[in-house]
Amino acid sequence: MKRTKIIDLLNRKDFGAEVCVKGWVRTRRGSKSVNFIALNDGSTIKNVQVVADVEKFDAEMLKLITTGACLSVEGTLVESQGAGQSVEIQATKIEVLGTCGADYPMQKKGQSFEYMRQHAHMRLRTNTFGAVFRIRHNMAIAIHKYFHDHGFFYFNTPIITASDCEGAGQMFQVTTKNLYDLKKDKDGKIDYSDDFFGKTTSLTVSGQLEGELGATALGAIYTFGPTFRAENSNTPRHLAEFWMIEPEVAFNDITDNMDLAEDFIKYCVRWALDNCKDDLEFLNKMIDKTLLERLNFVVDHDFVRLTYTDGIKILEDAVKQGHKFEFPVYWGVDLASEHERYLVEQHFKKPVILTDYPKEIKAFYMKMNDDGKTVRAMDVLFPQIGEIIGGSEREESYDKLMARINELSIPMKDMWWYLDTRKFGTCPHSGFGLGFERLILFVTGMQNIRDVIPFPRTPKSADF
Ligand code: 4AD
Ligand code: MG
Repeated sequence: MKRTKIIDLLNRKDFGAEVCVKGWVRTRRGSKSVNFIALNDGSTIKNVQVVADVEKFDAEMLKLITTGACLSVEGTLVESQGAGQSVEIQATKIEVLGTCGADYPMQKKGQSFEYMRQHAHMRLRTNTFGAVFRIRHNMAIAIHKYFHDHGFFYFNTPIITASDCEGAGQMFQVTTKNLYDLKKDKDGKIDYSDDFFGKTTSLTVSGQLEGELGATALGAIYTFGPTFRAENSNTPRHLAEFWMIEPEVAFNDITDNMDLAEDFIKYCVRWALDNCKDDLEFLNKMIDKTLLERLNFVVDHDFVRLTYTDGIKILEDAVKQGHKFEFPVYWGVDLASEHERYLVEQHFKKPVILTDYPKEIKAFYMKMNDDGKTVRAMDVLFPQIGEIIGGSEREESYDKLMARINELSIPMKDMWWYLDTRKFGTCPHSGFGLGFERLILFVTGMQNIRDVIPFPRTPKSADF
């Protein structure tokens, strides 16, 4: 008999029909005469209740129906008498496809997230992680749909690269060299001429530089791919491997860029509210009771826009009034998450787009303002998260860009192709990067970024 997914089964009304479902046992309870099995197949957070009359089944087989076991069930679709579900299955045939012993790591309810991270290969079977990863999928669909509907082209940029987009030197090297027998030149430097690519290469920290080539040809592009940062940040918001969405648009200035970021992120949140109702209600109940309220609030309100300089004034005033920050506040400082969250959660109580940062704390490619001190950067700051988006208008002047590259002593030999955009038909353009997992953190209300990617990569941790 053809299998019905539980999500479809729960919407059926053709009582009396013969159906087949397959899935994993969440719980089994019952009496001497009847067993109730809650079965889940991952298609929805909801379980289907299977009712098994004990006398109709082999007692030894029934004993194998433990939490985590995999079953194939055939039976009759009936209207449910119990509360909480409209249909259930009166079983006629049960086959145990896979037994599950008492050492099943997801046996108990209410295990800590820390514990579940150590069993990340099995945590996917829990309600919480099922909800998170269905929402993650939905966000990916929303992202592609938004850009496709707005005339952007999905543009694939390389994972292996010879340039450091953010210039922060936080790259994972890629090599096929024998690390036990490294050829060195007379100065003791490693000779890469015999390496796979004939030079040093790394995993990309951002697809932006190549994205700019796409935007200045196709008009508007977006990337959506994995990016890698070898930063030793053990925080609930940093991963060594994360996914980033980077739109880049020719002829957009920073205001257009802010409008795009705000519209795009609201679209994604609205998509979740419209398409992930059951999972969001579950997370709102189990993880964060203010989640739905916060999502609705973001969709319904304009983001505050202000300059970094004004933001610093607000933070300095807060310090004067006795607010204690762990890290110091002064003009020029790279804001810490606590500063960003103060502006968003305590001061404005709204998402904030902060612009015009000091050039020293931003990347080389950002357009310089007339003051010569600040650049046309924009960071979108969100409640609970802090920075969710980072972007800017790009420096389109060859001379100014070159001057900045020299000022920062960025090695030019692998950058010539990037500078060609400024040499041949340069144009104003802007773009930004949205950290996919930070978006998922916001939308799910989860507290730790390790819990919104199936298999997290963080310092000293690359299991599974
Ligand atoms: O601010 P970032 O470093 O900007 C860029 O990479 C630009 N090239 C983007 C662009 O303009 N096209 O990173 C962008 C976003 C951050 O706002 C944050 O959401 C996320 O990427 N991000 C991280 N997410 C998880 N773990 C990390 N280690 C992250 N680093 C950045
Ligand atoms: Mg940033």
